[in-house]
Amino acid sequence: MKILVVGSGGREHTIVHALSKSPGATQLYCAPGNGGIAGLARCVPIKATDIPAMVDFALQEKIDLVVVAPDDPLALGMVDALEAAGVRAFGPRANAAIIESSKAFAKNLMKKYSIPTAQYEIFSDYDAALAYIHSKGAPIVVKADGLALGKGVVVAQTVEEAEEALRSMMMDKSFGESGSTVVIEEFMTGPEVTVLCFTDGKTIKPMLSSQDHKRAYDNDRGPNTGGMGAFCPSPKFTPEIAAWCMDNIFRPTVEAMNAEGRPFKGVLYFGLMLTPQDPRVVEYNARFGDPETQPILSMLETDLLEIFEAVIDEKLADIDIKWKPGAACCVVLASGGYPVKYQTGYEISGLADVPDDIIVYHAGTKLENGKYYTSGGRVLGVTAVAEDLPGAVARAYAGVGRISFTDMHYRKDIGAK
Ligand code: AMP
Ligand code: GLY
Repeated sequence: MKILVVGSGGREHTIVHALSKSPGATQLYCAPGNGGIAGLARCVPIKATDIPAMVDFALQEKIDLVVVAPDDPLALGMVDALEAAGVRAFGPRANAAIIESSKAFAKNLMKKYSIPTAQYEIFSDYDAALAYIHSKGAPIVVKADGLALGKGVVVAQTVEEAEEALRSMMMDKSFGESGSTVVIEEFMTGPEVTVLCFTDGKTIKPMLSSQDHKRAYDNDRGPNTGGMGAFCPSPKFTPEIAAWCMDNIFRPTVEAMNAEGRPFKGVLYFGLMLTPQDPRVVEYNARFGDPETQPILSMLETDLLEIFEAVIDEKLADIDIKWKPGAACCVVLASGGYPVKYQTGYEISGLADVPDDIIVYHAGTKLENGKYYTSGGRVLGVTAVAEDLPGAVARAYAGVGRISFTDMHYRKDIGAK
């Protein structure tokens, strides 16, 4: 089968890497891809959001399956457009991807179907939002409605911080139209766990639970990023909690989407907070998480292509998904200054010295004349699988120790909590 993966980050490298082990995947393509992906797939210079060009390419090359990994093309309806052209595609249609692309939609869905989440109000009027913040006080959470690269959320410890976030989103339009509607939420506490689930709209199969590290610096300080590292499984997500979440969160969400006439097929990402009361939804994503995918798919034993096909054909109930025992950890190497301001174009050294049992997934890299250069904020995801979490963490950092580039920055505490 000819398979095209859409996207260019560490998540896409991980998906391509997993597919490359499938006997059914005879030819792999990635658009636009990156330096690391180029070693496994033919990279095609089409922007991940260019729907007409992607459809044309899929038809021209007679691609058998397109895997749409990032949020923007899903929200823009790339899966709908591919299906309309007769191309098989993995991922939710736009009317289901809205569960991620509009936080207001997601919050209203949870309210309507009694799915546990933080209390909230939605505002398109600045003065009303400001008055609400004053009536509630701090801490309080301000979120831009639309997609904002994981950066449209401000957890404000003071009323002044909340006011500033509101001004930046609604008046200064720092996230463009994504911030013209805001969700203002109750502040929750507790450990955060991510659970990605495969679902075909009928059956739900959770992957291994995981924990992301969203802040830029050690001890969860600094600005929110796309994610600085992740491990799986999460020791906090016990079998009892998993069963509770299946009954109270996962299944109700998939059923709610069906009831709304928006069946969800693909990967549904549950960002959960294990509050002192019960687990609650922090956010939904309509796709694999980045960097959670790196450790999770490194633990997958079942053929990923078979799973994708089962989801599309609504036969997920028929397959048994197997995971390696033990744990996996991914440490992200970023460009100094990420997520705010950073330089790119630095040569990366040491990649060839990384031991074979450690996988280095590329995120923001390009390959030129046989050398790798940095080309993004998150550059590499150094990932290891071991018998247990401490072992996986130690192995991943052993890999990190071999790699260097100018201004390289990474967290030293991934998996330490
Ligand atoms: P989100 O993009 O919605 O996942 O939010 C980014 C991060 O902000 C989350 O991972 C949480 O750490 C934090 N956060 C979001 N909503 C809340 C909330 N209601 N209470 C406390 N922290 C939150
Ligand atoms: N790691 C968080 C995300 O993919 O949204």
